[in-house]
Amino acid sequence: MSPDSVYTETDPQPEAATEHEHTPAEPEPEAGVEPEREPPELDPETAARRDAALAQIRSFGDPVLRTRARPIERFDDALRDEVARMGLLMDDALGVGLAATQVGVVHRLLVYRVQQQGALAALINPEVEWSGRETESMEEGCLSLPGVLVDVDRPIYVRVRALNEFGEPIMIEASGLEARVIQHEIDHLDGVLILDRTSREQRKEAMRVLREAQQAA
Ligand code: NI
Repeated sequence: MSPDSVYTETDPQPEAATEHEHTPAEPEPEAGVEPEREPPELDPETAARRDAALAQIRSFGDPVLRTRARPIERFDDALRDEVARMGLLMDDALGVGLAATQVGVVHRLLVYRVQQQGALAALINPEVEWSGRETESMEEGCLSLPGVLVDVDRPIYVRVRALNEFGEPIMIEASGLEARVIQHEIDHLDGVLILDRTSREQRKEAMRVLREAQQAA
């Protein structure tokens, strides 16, 4: 068993309020937090694209998912290409958010898109500057934890400062799903997973699902 699964079986941790990503929901766009489970109605081509994308995303047990990512200092074409590639991968995976660490790149970049037709957002070196006291618990999935859905309690409102892919400062006041996704993805940049933010019971059950999946693979 990898060190990181041992870690998650012990107790929760950090406080770094951050958020998550759901998987998908092409068929039902508003399902807030979606199922990593394959919706049965996915057409074969979409399903194949999704499988190919998921194969490029690091999954539980990979130590990179437990690594704290470094700040980005260079805002060049290579970075913008990376943003575009992550956006495509996220779309193919039917995710709403993706952090660079999930593709094995240990720097502080995340992308997300909460509205299907919306523009891709890229946040670089994001910091939660403020989060409201009010929290909400919702079920979250994660592209790196196939088959796992757990309840995660997070602040409903956050204000985040970051840089865009051109190095320009941006400030985002987010609520609801957008706030949740941003917090989930920032967690990834800190090596934190939804397993760390749920109840002991749900974490145990999730570990069982992950172990079974790994044995079946
Ligand atoms: Ni995730």
